[in-house]
Order: sequence, then structure tokens, then C-alpha cells
Amino acid sequence: MSRPSVYVGMSADLIHPGHINILEQAANLGDVIIGLLTDAAIASYKRLPHMTYEQRYRVVQSLKGVVAVEPQETLDYVPNLERLRPDYVVHGDDWRTGVQRETRQRVIDALDQWGGKLVEVPYTEGISSTQLNESVKQVGTTPSVRLSRLQRLIENKPIVRMMEAHNGLTGLIVETATAERHGRRVEFDGMWSSSLTDSTSRGKPDIEAVDISSRLQNINDIFEVTTKPLIFDGDTGGKPEHFSFTVRSLERLGVSAVIIEDKEGLKRNSLFGTDVVQTQSSIEDFSTRIAIGKQAQVTDDFMIIARIESLILDKGMEDAVARAEAYIDAGADAIMIHSRRKEPEEIFEFCARAEKLPKHVPIVVVPTSYNQVSEEELADRGVKVVIYANHMLRAAYPQMVKVAESVLHHGRTLEADQFLAPIADALAIIPENR
Ligand code: SPV
Ligand code: MG
Repeated sequence: MSRPSVYVGMSADLIHPGHINILEQAANLGDVIIGLLTDAAIASYKRLPHMTYEQRYRVVQSLKGVVAVEPQETLDYVPNLERLRPDYVVHGDDWRTGVQRETRQRVIDALDQWGGKLVEVPYTEGISSTQLNESVKQVGTTPSVRLSRLQRLIENKPIVRMMEAHNGLTGLIVETATAERHGRRVEFDGMWSSSLTDSTSRGKPDIEAVDISSRLQNINDIFEVTTKPLIFDGDTGGKPEHFSFTVRSLERLGVSAVIIEDKEGLKRNSLFGTDVVQTQSSIEDFSTRIAIGKQAQVTDDFMIIARIESLILDKGMEDAVARAEAYIDAGADAIMIHSRRKEPEEIFEFCARAEKLPKHVPIVVVPTSYNQVSEEELADRGVKVVIYANHMLRAAYPQMVKVAESVLHHGRTLEADQFLAPIADALAIIPENR
């Protein structure tokens, strides 16, 4: 008689004794089939795993008692269970409460259809994936791991969300901020190094006056205290002859992508629109710039993202779409389309038009002016990356002005206290101080 089949669903990113306990109990019951959650399944409810699916597959495949590994494409076990009809499902008993309660009930109901049984193993005290993830964060990351994360996120998430960071402190906030949205924990996927906020925080206009070395130093500061991927705002890319050096420097640091915009001469911030003189590059010149970047990059994972300014400069949708097609042909790994309208309609129209182009790449947007649009709406239109481009800096600025004026007005700091973090909170910003 063949042995009973036992299904164990897991992410298997950081294997610890708790997993081994579950596997031992499962192996006592029969032949163990691992339902290995795909990157997309994991990313739907928590951070992308450290290891890729293939790496995790290699690990679980060689664990004692495991006879087969099947991809589990969703958090929900039911599709795999109905296909494999196992005699048992084994799981830790920690899913009886909290967000996984519903998943558990669906497993029980599915197993009932063919008389299968759920066996729950007592939670192993003293160790958990959450704790291990915290430790990994403290250890940090390597440039190549960080660099490749953006592509993995784009492949596995409905939409990737980046928040501006312009120093170590804002980097830390983007790294650690979490919130609950529709019952799920959400966090930022990565950071945006903005020319606007890098310039403004140095008291300078956004005209490529802050040199690349200084901006790279900033990224180095951010990378010292974070693990998430970063997209660099490369402005126009500078002189074409210099752009290849910038690309290599960014890659060496572990930056995942550079966005360059199709403008030339004295570049001004896009949100000025046509209020200031700005010149758009010819399609040919800008395509050459993209090609120079593509030739310079060393890794496969680094992305050169082409930013189209046609809508900003009132050149029209046809021009924007024609440029998208040309830039994709020139090798752009993604297209950023920018708009300064208050409504998202022209962005939606661009997305619909881009879908009809012969070649597709991810679309990146920066909804600063059309800020009522939600991530869900953008994802529905096919946007893959949303960048909140300047919000950490804009949050801090009015508060700092208020405090400065209050101290001047009152000749002491008591009245400004209401705008300030208590000293204990200020110290606790830095993890090492806690
Ligand atoms: C930036 O953040 O510097 C950008 C986006 O380039 S925008 O300011 O909207 O042009
Ligand atoms: Mg910029």
C-alpha cells in the first residue's frame, strides 16, 4: 500500500528549527509534498523573500522526508489541495488566530471533500521567521542583492511603491515604515533618489548643479542604514560621454535603476512645465543616450529607464507615444511618463496607448500633481512602479519653518515643543539607541 501523502505549505526563505519540527511530524505521517510559495504569493502579503524561488526550491528539495516540491501560486492552499488531494496537511498551530485564520478554514473545508485531515504542530518558541528577518536587516545587504531586488519586485508585485529618501534618516523611515491597509500590512518597496530633494536639501535649485559625486555620497549614506532597492533620478544623464561612468558608479553601489529624462541644455524641474524655457531632446539624441547607458552597464539586472517629458512640455500624446516606441527600441528597460495635470486621465490614456505598442516594458509614474489617484487604480491601468517623489522633504520643511519662527517670536523653545519629537523619541529613531 502506498504511503499517505502529506502537504506542507511554506515560504522556506530562512529555514529554522520550527520548520524542521513541522517537517519531522509530516514525515512521520507519510510522503511529504512541499507547497513552495512563489515569490508573487509571498509578495502579496509580506516582503519579497531574500532567496529567489529557484534558490528556495533547491533548499527544500534536499530536506529529509521531502519527496516532491510543488509551486503554490497563491496564499490560498485550495487550488493545490484540490489538484493533489493529500491525506494530510501539516501546519504550525500559530495560524489559528490573526490574518491566516481564513486560509486555515479554507484548508479544513477543502480536506473535508475527500476525508483529508489537518494536523497542527505546536508553535516552536524562541525562534521565528520574523525574528530572523529582523536580524538579517541588521546585518544589511550586499550591492548585488539590493540591485537585483527591483526587477524581482516588478515581476512579482501588482505595483511597486517607491518613496523619496534624501539622507540616512529619510532612508530609515522608508525602510521601516509600515501601515495596515484593508487588513494587510503594507510597506514601501524601495527608495527614490530625487534630483529635486537632493538639490533642495542643499539649498540649491533643481538644475543639475549638485554634482554626481555628491549625490552618490548621499546614496552611500542611505545604503549604510537600509536594505531596500533604490531608483536614481539621473536628470538628463549629463554629457553622453559621462553617462557611462555614472551608470557604472551606480551599479557598483547597488542602485537598481537610473531614470533619465529627454531634455537637454539647462534642465529645470518638470513641475514648472512651460513656465520656464526647457528643451526636449530629439528622439535620435535621446535614443543614443539610452544606448550608451545600456552598453555601459555590467550586470543584467540594472535598468535604464527612459523618462518622457512630452506631456510636461505640451507636445501632445502622439509625441509621447512615438517616443515610447523609439526609446523601447533603443533598449529602455522601462518608461517613465510624467504629467503635471491635476487629474490622472492623460496618464491613463498613455497607459492604454502603450499597451498597443509592439514591445512592452514596465511603466513608471510620479503622481505628485494628480495625487488623488490610488495605487490600485494605477495598477489596474498597467502601471508597474509608482514613485512618491518629494514627500519626505515636503513633510519636514513646513514643520522646521514653524519651529524656527516660533523660537524667534517667543525668545525660547517652550512654545515650539508641540511641533517637536520628544527627546526620547528622537533618540529612538536610530535602531542602535533602542
Ligand atoms: C524629482 O523628484 O526630482 C523628479 C520628479 O524628477 S519631478 O520633480 O516631478 O520632476
Ligand atoms: Mg528630478
